[in-house]
Amino acid sequence: MEADVLLVPAPPDPERLIGRLVIVLDILRATTTIVTALMRGARAVIPVVEVEEGRAVAARLPPGTVLLGGERGSLRIDGYDLGNSPREYTAEMVRGRTIVLTTTNGTRMLRTLAGAAEILVGCYLNLGAVARTAAAGGRDVLVACAGRLGGVALEDVVGAGAVVAALEEVAAPLSLTDAARVARELYREYAADVGRSFRDSAHGQELLRLGLAEDLAFCATRDLTQIVPGCVDGVIRPAAPPGPVSEGPPA
Ligand code: MLT
Repeated sequence: MEADVLLVPAPPDPERLIGRLVIVLDILRATTTIVTALMRGARAVIPVVEVEEGRAVAARLPPGTVLLGGERGSLRIDGYDLGNSPREYTAEMVRGRTIVLTTTNGTRMLRTLAGAAEILVGCYLNLGAVARTAAAGGRDVLVACAGRLGGVALEDVVGAGAVVAALEEVAAPLSLTDAARVARELYREYAADVGRSFRDSAHGQELLRLGLAEDLAFCATRDLTQIVPGCVDGVIRPAAPPGPVSEGPPA
């Protein structure tokens, strides 16, 4: 089994997707928010790229079953029900609902991976469960970093390295591409405190300026849930990894 990492969010060469399981990461904060919403009982998350597209998708769903979530400039979009802070996605708010979500980088990345054999959504909250699910499937893995405005995001590369390190514990033999090795080595620099990678990153600093330090602390929480969301035909639904499941706290 091979682990590869897409360090920048350029749409991958289709050849790089064929037969692969892709794990999408936008640690700050889109994939953490998606995992949180599903962990708190949301029925599904539909990632969309544009703000108006979100409104149109939501309008086609039965009233009362859907919430609009997302950000521009890290802040809630006018007229949307929720922003992109995972802490807003409480059980009371999201249980049984479908979330139509648009974010600057994360949902965009999710929409560029149509050729992959399987697409999973990962973050620190479900790190171990994602690695176990990927290892059990036996496919080669591509960890796709959503990045920031088309470039590298430090926190995503460190997160990708954490996935590679977790895969090394459960999938043997595992061969690493150069990109996977780069991510894993960077992760080792930050492993004792991944929150430091947030504080060192441009996006983390922006969130701190906006007074969202609690989001950073939450996004650094490891293995809070066994839920491993999968994206099929543009809809993300919860699933659990093989083996015994112990669910995280409900709210
Ligand atoms: C994104 O997708 O760009 C991020 O999740 C931005 C954010 O932190 O709100």
